[in-house]
Amino acid sequence: MHTILVTGGAGFIGSNFVRWALGRPEANCKLVVLDKLTYAGNLENLAGLEETYPDHYFFVRGDICDGDTVAELFEKHAPNAVLNFAAESHVDRSILDPMEFVRTNVLGTATLLAAARRHWPEESWDRARFLQISTDEVYGSLPEDRPDIKFTEDTPLAPHSPYSASKASADLLTQAYHDTYGFPTLITRCSNNYGPYQFPEKLIPLVIRNAMNDESVPVYGDGKNVRDWLYVSDHCTALWDVLSTGEPGSVYNIGGDRELRNIDLIRMLLDILDKPHSLIEFVNDRPGHDRRYAIDAGKLKSELGWEPSSDFREKLAETVNWYREHTEWLERVISGEYLATYDRIYRRGWKE
Ligand code: NAD
Ligand code: TYD
Repeated sequence: MHTILVTGGAGFIGSNFVRWALGRPEANCKLVVLDKLTYAGNLENLAGLEETYPDHYFFVRGDICDGDTVAELFEKHAPNAVLNFAAESHVDRSILDPMEFVRTNVLGTATLLAAARRHWPEESWDRARFLQISTDEVYGSLPEDRPDIKFTEDTPLAPHSPYSASKASADLLTQAYHDTYGFPTLITRCSNNYGPYQFPEKLIPLVIRNAMNDESVPVYGDGKNVRDWLYVSDHCTALWDVLSTGEPGSVYNIGGDRELRNIDLIRMLLDILDKPHSLIEFVNDRPGHDRRYAIDAGKLKSELGWEPSSDFREKLAETVNWYREHTEWLERVISGEYLATYDRIYRRGWKE
């Protein structure tokens, strides 16, 4: 049985991954989730797993920057893989408070790498894996008038936001562990995910929640920025393939070839919800707003045989239904702290 340390497992993608992996007995793995439970982490996302999988699922509340906590987990559970989902993940917050992003995303990754290297004897490295879960945002922005150009693994890193700069830093450090020590690292860079359990500060759940409450839907700038959307369970299958068969030291892009302008996606969501387009409100643009992301996942497909299996329109409608049926979850995860940030951005602008 594999033991995997899953950091940030109470967040959106982490909790989807934990549920997905535990639901596959053939994966035969024990998951030790380490999560600080920031505003974005929610134990409700993992509810019931302790009872259903008492021998395969363990939760520990803690900070990836805390070397003692991380060392204790390595000693107690002896994981042979690390999946590092833990991060501050919202670009808008990184504009308001970059330091927390540097701390968790850079120092946290550094702490995990150092602990894994210390606890894994070198002779075990052919069986151990450190998977750093990164983002396409590290590549920066693509021109909107060149649909032929997409991010490949060779695209130079050119992050623009404090969030993407902190993720790029963590990627470089992870790669340095491979190049310097021969440490068995893997890096994945995925496009925007959608699905259940996403914190409603991100575009899709934010639009759904606001529209359900007949509140205006804020569109940054002209709404023509393009994002490339992937259903979260397709991200999970890709991570599993990379973890199981990826070549140590490699980077893999993950994406589903589903580019959409924000305004078109928002109109689609309003139509599914049967709400008027008059709810759309154009607001001040995000500073440094990347124009277009688009992922070329050809390497992952040709080398590891991965394919996304989700139909976009079907999964988008399913996602809308999930939030419709989980309005209590939506309201519970939105704390006073979140509402204060929301108010600050939309009502008072981006500056102090
Ligand atoms: P999220 O914000 O929903 O979840 C992050 C989780 O990390 C939360 O549970 C939070 O409590 C935890 N966390 C934060 N700081 C921590 C710390 N110091 N120690 C321990 N736990 C901490 O994020 P997400 O959308 O699930 O993203 C997960 C990962 O995937 C991130 O690394 C992100 O950069 C990457 N990613 C996300 C997307 C996307 O569309 N959401 C796309 C590509 C890559
Ligand atoms: P987001 O979900 O924050 O993801 P990211 O910035 O990491 O891609 O935003 C997705 C896109 O939607 C991005 O171009 C910014 C835009 N956006 C809005 O227009 N309005 C909003 O209220 C939010 C949160 C995002």
